[in-house]
Amino acid sequence: MPSASLNPFRAAAASHVGQALGLDPASFPVTNPPDATLGDYAVGLFPAAKAKKGAPPVLAKQLAAAFTPTPLLSAATASGPYLNFTAARGPLLAHVLTGAARVPTTPGAGKTVVIDFSSPNIAKQLAYHHIRSTMIGWALVNLHRALGYRVIGINHLGDWGTTHGMLLAAAERSGTPEPLTIESLNAMYVAFRREIEQDASLEEAGRAWFKRLEDGDPVARALWNRFREVSIAEFREIYDQLKVSFDLYKGESEFEAAMPGVIQLLGDKGLTSISEGALVVNLDAEGMPPCLLRKADGATLYATRDLAAAIDRYQSYHFDRCLYVVDKGQGLHFKQLFAVLAKAGFAWSSGMAHVDFGQVRIGGKKAATRGGNVVFLKDVLAEATERSLALMKEIGADVPPEAERATAATIGIGAVLFANVKASRIKDIDFEWEEVISIKGSAAPYIQYTHARIASILRNAGGEVNPQADTSALELPEELALAKALADFPDVVQRAADECEPHGVGGYLLELCSLYSNYYSLGNADPSRKVLVADERLRAARLALSAATREVLSEGLRLLGIGAPDRM
Ligand code: ARG
Repeated sequence: MPSASLNPFRAAAASHVGQALGLDPASFPVTNPPDATLGDYAVGLFPAAKAKKGAPPVLAKQLAAAFTPTPLLSAATASGPYLNFTAARGPLLAHVLTGAARVPTTPGAGKTVVIDFSSPNIAKQLAYHHIRSTMIGWALVNLHRALGYRVIGINHLGDWGTTHGMLLAAAERSGTPEPLTIESLNAMYVAFRREIEQDASLEEAGRAWFKRLEDGDPVARALWNRFREVSIAEFREIYDQLKVSFDLYKGESEFEAAMPGVIQLLGDKGLTSISEGALVVNLDAEGMPPCLLRKADGATLYATRDLAAAIDRYQSYHFDRCLYVVDKGQGLHFKQLFAVLAKAGFAWSSGMAHVDFGQVRIGGKKAATRGGNVVFLKDVLAEATERSLALMKEIGADVPPEAERATAATIGIGAVLFANVKASRIKDIDFEWEEVISIKGSAAPYIQYTHARIASILRNAGGEVNPQADTSALELPEELALAKALADFPDVVQRAADECEPHGVGGYLLELCSLYSNYYSLGNADPSRKVLVADERLRAARLALSAATREVLSEGLRLLGIGAPDRM
């Protein structure tokens, strides 16, 4: 069942119907009537028919006839199988001016969400496609926090496995590159892979090095540790630019010690078997290939480490939800992971979910760091900043020189980030330089611009905004439409968190901008409709409505990890 509405007016509509019919209000979703003249909120009476309370159109008429106004709802009318409610204008406007931007923290109170996001593999640069997990994950962190959840954001670094043996073997062969950077490391690795194509015995050397690493050989450990540190330092630079942070960096390597225990535990439950020399959990009954725990040569696998990490997360945090923000290509891995945990009797595994997303294609092909089909994230962010700086100069932006660069970064990077939440996450994305960093036609700068424009109106008005302003003079349909949209903000946040779809917030913000523009531009044709009218009472109310809009735009962008400058 969807979460109950956080908009008190929608909640009142549902509970009115629920009470009148003696049914659970939560079973009545509140939608919007097809046309605003029919009312503000529509409640379909279909669940009543299911509960054998009568035919919806008949019930709608009866409920409408019996309706008496409540503090939040001023009217109810029947429209076919729907009962349409009108929100009481004064209370609606007062609610919006004083607090619509504030998302209540009740939904998540006492609940914990673990979010595994970004989680890149070390020793290679963050590529543009890493923006997907990083920013979808970061938005989910912000959304859940706003709703009152305790959130633990984890960077599950890919810092273990045979690849790391290959890196050590490569360093042995060609010498450790100096200066040691993520670029020189990756170049070394790529060259080594090319050599392997000629000489397969090198692959064996890599495996042997990984064995040394697993066995705790100090030489192997020390070098691996340097590779790891260099990588993390570079990742952090980019995370800082994106203003993303983690509660915990806990990579795959940290589960090395826990793995024998996990294998033991699954064995004790009678879940493991040997298949072609490897230790596996058979998942025939679940219709999946077996989950590999240990290869014939004794090496553990990605899945083994994820099992250990999942158990560790539950033991550490007793999460209600544990989300893995990872591309859809790993769908089977997570299905297997959850299935093994369920088979092992961990009831908490029902709270785990793979938040999958579509791939990034470059020139029509899947982006892959090591295939060479790659655009580095650092370069995209730098280029986007340069372009927005150039554009700001071209249009003569209203930004003091000392703030130019920071504003350009906020706008340029914002445009890049928004491209990532433009559509539902499962859609593949085609990387086009022109599209990703076009500032002019992009959605984020448009939202930022609307925000900055309202900020400028508020500055021009000079005085304080009064959220208690008398709203009785706000009578334009455009004002009402805006207020209704603002009142829905907490629901938009809740839905985005529940469904793990930050793009819902993006779409909402665009809609809000267009409602504000419609409203604002009324003043062009008719001065009496300007926000800054002469009439003081009206002006105070319009300013307060504008300020509430500004707050929701800024909060909504913040949740997506995008900044909202006051001047552009
Ligand atoms: N390092 C992996 C990769 O780059 C992603 C890890 C995702 N998290 C996890 N717990 N498996 O593909």
